[in-house]
Amino acid sequence: MNAVRFENQTLLYLDQRYLPAKEVWRECTTLHQGIQAIKELHVRGAPLIGIFACYTLCVALECFPGDKKGFFHQFDKAICSLKNSRPTAVNLAWALERVWRKARSFEQQPVSEIKHAMREESKQIHAEDALLCQKIARNGTSIVHKGACILTHCNTGFLATGGEGTALGIIYKAHRDRKKITVYVDETRPLLQGARLTAWELMKQKVPCMLITDNMAASIMRKRLIDMVIVGADRIARNGDTANKIGTYSLAVLARSHKIPFYVAAPFSTFDLSLKSGDDIPIEQRDPDEVRKAGGSIPLAPEDVPVYNPAFDITPGRLITAIITDKGVISPPYGRSIKKCLFSDV
Ligand code: MRU
Repeated sequence: MNAVRFENQTLLYLDQRYLPAKEVWRECTTLHQGIQAIKELHVRGAPLIGIFACYTLCVALECFPGDKKGFFHQFDKAICSLKNSRPTAVNLAWALERVWRKARSFEQQPVSEIKHAMREESKQIHAEDALLCQKIARNGTSIVHKGACILTHCNTGFLATGGEGTALGIIYKAHRDRKKITVYVDETRPLLQGARLTAWELMKQKVPCMLITDNMAASIMRKRLIDMVIVGADRIARNGDTANKIGTYSLAVLARSHKIPFYVAAPFSTFDLSLKSGDDIPIEQRDPDEVRKAGGSIPLAPEDVPVYNPAFDITPGRLITAIITDKGVISPPYGRSIKKCLFSDV
């Protein structure tokens, strides 16, 4: 299953706003549509928005009629707008910069060759992400024991990546390995990625799961129903501080208090080694109506009540038991281990 497809230079995506009720596929043909799809979460999840942004760039520039100078002018402007569409997940900027470097390396070639190189690089990023998911799943095998009850937050599966997922990739592999796991799924207020997307994915893959509201986590941990927490990440600073969906930090605090291991799963492209700590990670603030209304229309609160709506929070590295990456499992102290793992040739 793939939530984004690029075939015959046509960009199609599964519009995640309609899940789980309907599977609606849409085509993206312009830069504006691509940016809107990312901002409004038709397409979401750190690795997937990077992949989708690269394809958007390809379709947006495909029909550009001008000369090479004009092409690169449009190209740089488009990259800048796409990068700014969501600020927290570093995978977005990382993927776009890769396509930018590839296009620049073809600078001396005709525009048609540059466009071809951009398409190939975008497809390569997509294919590589699927492999990164497989490697994360393999590296995460040892943390999941038989019969484990795993709590997860938000959505980190094939609706969020170019493959099977990060945290969910580990979960799918444990299920395939017949470990008889059960997944507790946080509904993930306010946009319900857990309830709408993760529960949908898990049911489709026949993984035993139980949906809970976010405020039930403490209680089920106290009842010893949870053996471990596994979540994804949008950006990881070089000290291990991790930005992920709002509510992740509370789970990490609760896990520590109940002596439950708390794992983050992410590919190397989610690390931002230019940042010293989580304090430097930009946190996206979203529309207050996401909190005030259900499904964009049903009032849940007074119409004009002031709302605080950050999309992500920062979990300090000291609360993270280990980070499962495509390159291996990284343990604290992260100040040293992250660099060592990411720059080794494992
Ligand atoms: O706002 P979203 O739905 O894009 O947030 C997604 C998350 O927070 C995921 O946990 C994260 O991107 C990791 S996806 C492998």
